[in-house]
Amino acid sequence: MAAPSSLLFSLFFYILCSACVNTIVNAVTSPILCHEDEKSFLLNFKKSLTLSSDSSSYSKTASWKADNSSDCCSWDGVECDKDTGFVISLDLSNSSISGTLHSNSTLFGLVHLRDLNLADNDFKNSSIPPQISYLSRLSSINLSHSSISGQIPFELSGSLDLTSLDLSSNFLNGTFPVAIFDLPSLTVLNVSYNQNLAGYLPVFNQTSSLRALELDSTKFSGTIPASIGNLQSLTKLRLGRCRFSGSIPASIGNLTELTFLSFTNARFEAGKLSWLDKLTKLNSLYLMYTNLYGEIPSSLANLTKLTTLHLQMNHFTGEIPFQLFNMTELINLSLFDNQLTGSISSSFSQLINLDNLNLKKNNFSGIVEADVFLSLEKLTFLSLSQNNISLLTNHLINSTLSHFTGLELDSCNLKEIPYFLKFQDKLETLSLTGNSIHGQVPAWLWNASDSLVEIYLFRNFLTGMGQNLSVLPGTSLRVIDIKDNMLKGNLPVPPTTIMAYYVANNKLTGEIPSKMCGLRSLKILHLFNNNMTGPIPSCLGNSLSVFNVGGNNFSGMIPQSYSEKCDLRVMDLSQNRLEGQLPRSLSNCRMLRILDLGDNKLEDTFPSWLGTLPQLQVLILHANRFWGATASSPGIGSPFPMLQIIDVSQNSFSGDLPLEYIKNWSAMKFLPSDMELYAYTRTEFQSGKHHWTDTYSSSLTLRNKGVTAEYAKHVNVLCAIDFSSNRFTGKIPDSLGSLKQVQMLNLANNELTGPIPPSLGSLRQLESLDLSVNKLSGAIPHQIAAELNFLSFFNVSYNTLSGPIPQGPQFRTFEKDSYIGNLGLCGLPLSKKCASAKSPEPDNEDVNDSDESLNVSDWAFILTGIGTGLVIGYVLGTNISKRHPWLILKVAEVLTRRSYTRNLESEVTMDEITIFRTNYR
Ligand SMILES: *[C@@H]1O[C@H](CO)[C@@H](O)[C@H](O)[C@H]1NC(C)=O
Ligand SMILES: *[C@@H]1O[C@H](CO)[C@@H](O)[C@H](O)[C@H]1NC(C)=O
Ligand SMILES: *[C@@H]1O[C@H](CO)[C@@H](O)[C@H](O)[C@H]1NC(C)=O
Ligand SMILES: *[C@@H]1O[C@H](CO)[C@@H](O)[C@H](O)[C@H]1NC(C)=O
Ligand SMILES: *[C@@H]1O[C@H](CO)[C@@H](O)[C@H](O)[C@H]1NC(C)=O
Ligand SMILES: *[C@@H]1O[C@H](CO)[C@@H](O)[C@H](O)[C@H]1NC(C)=O
Ligand SMILES: *[C@@H]1O[C@H](CO)[C@@H](O)[C@H](O)[C@H]1NC(C)=O
Repeated sequence: MAAPSSLLFSLFFYILCSACVNTIVNAVTSPILCHEDEKSFLLNFKKSLTLSSDSSSYSKTASWKADNSSDCCSWDGVECDKDTGFVISLDLSNSSISGTLHSNSTLFGLVHLRDLNLADNDFKNSSIPPQISYLSRLSSINLSHSSISGQIPFELSGSLDLTSLDLSSNFLNGTFPVAIFDLPSLTVLNVSYNQNLAGYLPVFNQTSSLRALELDSTKFSGTIPASIGNLQSLTKLRLGRCRFSGSIPASIGNLTELTFLSFTNARFEAGKLSWLDKLTKLNSLYLMYTNLYGEIPSSLANLTKLTTLHLQMNHFTGEIPFQLFNMTELINLSLFDNQLTGSISSSFSQLINLDNLNLKKNNFSGIVEADVFLSLEKLTFLSLSQNNISLLTNHLINSTLSHFTGLELDSCNLKEIPYFLKFQDKLETLSLTGNSIHGQVPAWLWNASDSLVEIYLFRNFLTGMGQNLSVLPGTSLRVIDIKDNMLKGNLPVPPTTIMAYYVANNKLTGEIPSKMCGLRSLKILHLFNNNMTGPIPSCLGNSLSVFNVGGNNFSGMIPQSYSEKCDLRVMDLSQNRLEGQLPRSLSNCRMLRILDLGDNKLEDTFPSWLGTLPQLQVLILHANRFWGATASSPGIGSPFPMLQIIDVSQNSFSGDLPLEYIKNWSAMKFLPSDMELYAYTRTEFQSGKHHWTDTYSSSLTLRNKGVTAEYAKHVNVLCAIDFSSNRFTGKIPDSLGSLKQVQMLNLANNELTGPIPPSLGSLRQLESLDLSVNKLSGAIPHQIAAELNFLSFFNVSYNTLSGPIPQGPQFRTFEKDSYIGNLGLCGLPLSKKCASAKSPEPDNEDVNDSDESLNVSDWAFILTGIGTGLVIGYVLGTNISKRHPWLILKVAEVLTRRSYTRNLESEVTMDEITIFRTNYR
């Protein structure tokens, strides 16, 4: 019986073996190679592109060779169907490709393609050719982050079998083809971060299989349809920073599969958060800046998987529901900028997974023990700023479990710098502003953390930056802001890494230390309003962007040499004792926007050579010893093209008013709409996780008289001319009337002759006009009374004007003082009657003549539009008399500061510190 069984075995072996030989033979003789035509399509596609010159990067197409033996199915990034050999998948993502995607590209010959991934390349603003529809089997397209622009072709919605479309982070524009939403098998749609892509949401059908819908940072608008509740498979919905209006539909509460939900949009109608209960799979919830109000619902605690909860910048009121403290999975909790009340519960210590906690800018009150947060081992960012709390810190704590990278304890009633900071070795950002911290900054603070990047200590009562410290330690410090304190003694030299050093409004004395010259990274130096003396070191200036040493007692010359590399944008040397001439090399500082040299002892002729500066918006030479004519220097075609404010008052200029400039001050004729606020200077840096921008706004003094009571205009449209108190002669040029944006014009106290030109009537924005103390003659043109509807201050006293005072709506408000000293003038408000003219109705309004003194608190500053770009304006308190003479207008220094420090699951969380500062000299 052995033989048959061995035979059987042999037979079995034979069959087995021939099968395997057959397979081998088959593989050798008829391999499924890629098709020649597709191979050439690929090679031609490769040829049509250029690889980035960056040799360090790798391109998958490097392996694509034209020789006959090369099988394209084996090329990098190419996948063929095993049975047919057709190319079904092309993945050239992140392949350093740069080049245009033409409509005749051979790519569109690969008609069997199912997956196309060209993400992370540079297609140089190509649009997607409609020919993409030739690839009718495509089901997945990824062109994200590849510099694609233009309109999304309608053809994309045609015959494709699309399941996944990712066009995010490009420059697409036009309107998103709404038919794409109708593709029955579409599961992933991502067009986020296409800032100019418009679109709207359709009515969604029950049958949709959409799992991810991402439209962040686009121009999608309209309402979010209630039918969005039909997208039952949706796990990810991102509609942040779009332009949707209407309300957030409650039907979202039916999308029970959601794990990620984000809305950000201030245009939403105010609503309550009432639809969340069933979304128990949610992991991340971003609802910042969505006009939500009412209490934070306690049912939120049912979302036990939630790790990120962002409800900041809404109108939530009431207390934090205690149920929230059961949400122990929470990692990121941001409630800042709401109106939450009550105490900050010690139960926060239960949220043991917290990494990031922001409670800033609410109405929390009571005493808070710092220990609650110091016990949270994972907590790295904490902000309790701007509430009504008193933070108690324990002196005895000499170590903590938590290792903060960012800590904001502004306005927390701190009396001292908390001792636990000494043991924070990872701290990058520290803000302790607006507390009641007295005395010296303890030396250990500078040494506590090598990682410290930004430190904000302004608005305290500090008297020194550290006992006997002339040089501050620190290896990473970029920003020190310690203005508005009581610092005494010499200016400490910050570490060499420093970029911005704010020390304004203190009581520092002594000279600027020569070691300041070694600060190669310094961009902003702000020493305004101290008592410092000595010369300004010549090293300063060139590399700074903002150079403000005004309001001190500096003497000597202005630093003399500015090279082509000069980066100055703001230079304020006002209110010192500087002498000599202006350095001619200042004309190298082509970025200069603001130059304030007022109140010094400078002696020079008019710096017409500054007329070449393309950005100069503010030029202030007030109260110096400038002299001579203000004639233009030859060869400057259009001097001062951007000038908005010029103040040369109280000098010894003579000759005619500078007519030839006036014709060219185009900014005063027509403000370009894209012009930046003159008061803005932006400084940015990137340092590790930080992206820091600082918007600096200079303080200005305009010595014009008379401002309307409600002055709600934006700072950027302020235009003013002050030539007062010089020795200008000749006539007021007619062409002044072309500077239609001018709001303040002061030519007082000169030796001007001739008539008041009627063209001044076309200065429709004019609010203050002072021509007093000159030798003007003739009548007051009736155009001024008839056309200048904003005029609230008018003075022509002490001239030789004659004739009737014109009557007009604004003119009714001016008093005798505006006209006295002109023997020939007649009519109201003067008592002298005009000979023939009808006497107008007497004004029996009781004029309040009391000389109210201008109170600092009369000024209010408004700031609006946080998060949408800042618009800064200011309002004058209404209790200032309309007729207040010699009103000195001070423009606030407003600093807006944005530190972007976190990057959580691709959702950038913006953390804003907005600081208002006003300078009253
Ligand atoms: C494809 O079109 C571009 C631009 O229209 C043209 O420059 C190029 O020669 C064309 N290529 C072929 C192979 O026709
Ligand atoms: C859209 O983008 C394309 C390509 O960059 C450009 O030519 C076109 O002008 C843009 N259209 C609009 C309306 O902005
Ligand atoms: C959704 O419904 C509309 C109108 O009933 C229809 O035109 C559209 O084709 C439907 N879309 C899908 C994907 O079923
Ligand atoms: C949620 O779905 C249920 C069942 O389909 C439906 O009856 C209800 O109206 C939906 N709720 C909202 C707010 O759309
Ligand atoms: C939420 O949880 C509470 C108990 O904490 C429970 O009474 C309530 O029914 C839950 N709500 C939903 C919608 O599940
Ligand atoms: C919080 O959790 C604890 C322990 O799991 C439980 O006993 C308690 O009922 C929960 N409280 C709320 C408000 O859900
Ligand atoms: C920390 O405190 C403990 C006791 O409270 C003390 O023994 C220790 O010396 C302290 N360490 C430092 C560095 O101050």
